[in-house]
Amino acid sequence: MSKRVVLAYSGGLDTSVIVRWLADRGFEVITYTADVGQGEELSEIEEKAKMAGAVEAVIDDIKEEFAREYCMPLMRAGALYEDKYPLLSALSRPLISKKLVELAHKVGADYVAHGSTGKGNDQVRFEASVWALDPDIEVLAPVREWEFKSREEEIEYAQKHGIPVVATKEKPYSYDRNLWGVAIESGPLEDPAAEPQEDAFVLTVSPENAPDTPEYLEIEFERGVPVGINGNRYSELWKLVWDLNEMAGKHGFGRIDMIENRLVGIKSREVYESPAGLLLLKAYDEIESMVLDRFTYHYKITHVRHPYSEVVYNGLWFSTLRESLDAFNDNIAKLITGKVKFKLYKGYGDVVGRSAEKSMYIEDLATYSPHDSFDHKAGAAFTKVWSLPLKVAGRVRK
Ligand code: ARG
Repeated sequence: MSKRVVLAYSGGLDTSVIVRWLADRGFEVITYTADVGQGEELSEIEEKAKMAGAVEAVIDDIKEEFAREYCMPLMRAGALYEDKYPLLSALSRPLISKKLVELAHKVGADYVAHGSTGKGNDQVRFEASVWALDPDIEVLAPVREWEFKSREEEIEYAQKHGIPVVATKEKPYSYDRNLWGVAIESGPLEDPAAEPQEDAFVLTVSPENAPDTPEYLEIEFERGVPVGINGNRYSELWKLVWDLNEMAGKHGFGRIDMIENRLVGIKSREVYESPAGLLLLKAYDEIESMVLDRFTYHYKITHVRHPYSEVVYNGLWFSTLRESLDAFNDNIAKLITGKVKFKLYKGYGDVVGRSAEKSMYIEDLATYSPHDSFDHKAGAAFTKVWSLPLKVAGRVRK
């Protein structure tokens, strides 16, 4: 085996120390850094990777692929883990894994490496994804096995090896950000009873600092794809998601504060911001509720949303199950053409209007006014037959 490894590299302290640590153990390290919409300048990444000891640094803009192939299927699935978390971190891991495997094949590396710890979900997502795509690749997770017990020890090692440690006054939080939102962890957030401080947030303002006037925002869909906001059409999906984050975040919409069950059995306090994710999920569901017959809509709610969220959360993106659920959702997507109007105001962001090309909402049937076309007499027979099982049970009990 060649001792060549492709490392998922963020440019932060952990992954920089990993570069050196692997190089010290005889590995030729090629770093891979993806732009998934984390909003960070990546121009210094190559220099950083090389200073840490990488032989090559690859930087890749995959925002559009991430938006199209990962965020959109999640939106179409209506998936929220534990009914709350829009799965933003869980969503980027399979794509990054796929890119690591492709690069490993290209440069002839037998190993890939990541910077996840041994107590999180990300290790599982990376490794399950990598092995689904290439079962013969070896995965290295240095953080799970190395000797450092604290950030201080890592900094000491970094300084000893000439790895630049940026001495900016760092926030006490750890962030994982992409187009679909940001996960904020650690520091004061580890006390689940304590309200998150304002300085923790990056995409949203607090409701009290949001504008005093409400704003309307209309999202337009064509065949399951969001194509415009307030009449402005987008040719790039990532840009639409990016702009939605800004438009809704400035009204304080999109915060989530929850206790989450991790795959490894730990409960953790998680704080997320996902203005665009939550809006798109709601908007999509709104059109579904208009265009799907009751049977299909209820099937989707009970048998697709929740299973899909678990599949993604638990690292099973590259599974037949996910592909099959996508096939169901893609079939529905053909019907999703329409517009959804939101009102945003101080943290509130709900649907206030909707229209759809294939709408099954028939005013003549729904109305309580004189042009009502529903056959009221049919209601009596229907109700009689529908109630029959309960009537019989009532008789038996009596
Ligand atoms: N708990 C979330 C998840 O498992 C967020 C993880 C954030 N990842 C990170 N490396 N900070 O999806």
